[in-house]
Amino acid sequence: MANPKTQTLYPGKATGRPSKIAIIGAGAVGTATAYACAMRGDARDIVLYDINGSKASAEALDIAHGIQFTPCGSVEGSDDIEIIKGADLVIVTAGAKQKPGQSRLDLAESTINLMRKITPQICDVAPDAFQMYITNPVDVVTYAALKISGMPRNQVFGSGTVLDTSRLRYLVSKHTGVATQNIHAYIAGEHGDSEVALWSSAVIGNVPLRHWGLTVDGRLFDAELRDQIAEEVVNSAYKIIDGKGATDKAIGLAASSIAGAILRDENRVLSVCSLLEDWNGISDVVMAAPTLVDRNGAGRVLEPPLTLKERDGLNESAQRLRDAARALGL
Ligand code: LAC
Repeated sequence: MANPKTQTLYPGKATGRPSKIAIIGAGAVGTATAYACAMRGDARDIVLYDINGSKASAEALDIAHGIQFTPCGSVEGSDDIEIIKGADLVIVTAGAKQKPGQSRLDLAESTINLMRKITPQICDVAPDAFQMYITNPVDVVTYAALKISGMPRNQVFGSGTVLDTSRLRYLVSKHTGVATQNIHAYIAGEHGDSEVALWSSAVIGNVPLRHWGLTVDGRLFDAELRDQIAEEVVNSAYKIIDGKGATDKAIGLAASSIAGAILRDENRVLSVCSLLEDWNGISDVVMAAPTLVDRNGAGRVLEPPLTLKERDGLNESAQRLRDAARALGL
């Protein structure tokens, strides 16, 4: 695997042409991602690939008919993988979806076999593209894609806990009355049941959360409320799946936001999942942590101070993911 430190890739400006995003999978998540990317306009061209060509074409056409109302230039769909040629970023959403009560890791075996087919195709048709995995279990899937592709960690990464972090900020915002944009708190670890809320480094505006005081309904923002919120974040997807069968809109928005950080070279701190090398003593696992995302993809992983409880939780999460990867022969 090339040294991730030296590998630099920059779409768009490097080639002097407008950026292109390719989305693999025209299911609920793939189409929500395509719609969100079209609305943001970070890429002029968006393509949707699916083995079900009529679905991919129809979903793309349904967005393209509204293109006048977006900053996007074109949206196309096909069952021909060549449609992803020249993409700057490939977003992989294809895979099985959780059934009510099913954990993301339960999907691992079927999904990894799918990646063994899809990842080589992406490397073949769009070798210079960043590969961002959304497909669950996203941490193990991303680890598999790194192994299969042999590409550097900055170029192959996953959405990690970007959505979980957004859910955390949404809930803290509801309890404090402060806009989510001013809630600086992260979820790290597995995108799943063992994820960890990094409360000790959370800040609201310029006030450390531990000094916040009362919530909008007069409750102390104490350990009990923190645990309640963290539990609510972990259970968010299960709750939505029970109600509507799948989650798609917020993950689509999260994916398009990560895409924007790359294509606009934004240097944003996002909790994507990438291969960790001695991050707080954690190595050889793909897991989410606050990471600088810019034109070089997944870059420096920030090391916030951790409490013993947070450190233990992250080590547990890492081991759970290593065990899952090992069970799949990765
Ligand atoms: C969720 C899916 C994307 O958390 O895993 O909604």
